[in-house]
Amino acid sequence: MRLAIILSLFLSISISSYALADSGKYERKGYVPQSKLLKPVKYKLYLDECGACHFAFQPELLPARSWQKMMNTLEDHFGDDASLDEESTAQIAAFLKWESAEQSSSKRAQKFLRSIRPNESPLRITETRYFKDKHDEVDPSVYKRKSIGSPANCIACHTTADKGNYQDEFVKVPRR
Ligand code: HEC
Ligand code: HEC
Repeated sequence: MRLAIILSLFLSISISSYALADSGKYERKGYVPQSKLLKPVKYKLYLDECGACHFAFQPELLPARSWQKMMNTLEDHFGDDASLDEESTAQIAAFLKWESAEQSSSKRAQKFLRSIRPNESPLRITETRYFKDKHDEVDPSVYKRKSIGSPANCIACHTTADKGNYQDEFVKVPRR
């Protein structure tokens, strides 16, 4: 009797370890490790002001020097006047500085940062080498689709961009 228990225990252990070995690694569907995510933006002033014309980009997508340059030239912001009152400009500039790529522990942010030369301060995330590498299979005509409009419209294709999640399994490129 005792032998049977021991035997069945041994069998069930070896069966379950076989099942584990068989499926390769343990995966939790839809789970993304924290290190791959960016912080979702919760700062209301930023969401209101910098999310009015386009997706409110996570500060971790650019280095502090880029944000500083941008905040100093808001009256001519990609052909638009995006200037704000002095107080809001200072608040948002501080937010961008302290949440920039350099301050981030996210691997994703580090990859954006490392793809930018130290002597460069790009104003466009979409012009960084990391962005270009990751989108080299997207035909330029795709960005012209009505519901996309521009490579800067992250959330058009990255359905979870506002959650800071740019993982490829959540990409859905609209057909029109
Ligand atoms: C009045 C409208 C407007 C406001 C307000 C505005 N932007 Fe923009 N922004 C634009 C336009 C237009 C572009 C170019 C978009 C494109 O190429 O698709 C742009 C582009 C950008 C880009 C570059 C996107 C890329 O190509 O990688 C960043 C970063 C950016 N804005 C940040 C900000 C920040 C930060 C604020 C708030 C201080 C802000 N924007 C407020 C109109 C605006
Ligand atoms: C036209 C749709 C489209 C737009 C707009 C777009 N992307 Fe992407 N993105 C893609 C596709 C497609 C991939 C590649 C997914 C794959 O490899 O399966 C990708 C990949 C990525 C990756 C790498 C994902 C991974 O798992 O390695 C990042 C990071 C990323 N995009 C960030 C951005 C950011 C930030 C923006 C906005 C500034 C943006 N994307 C705009 C379609 C888009």
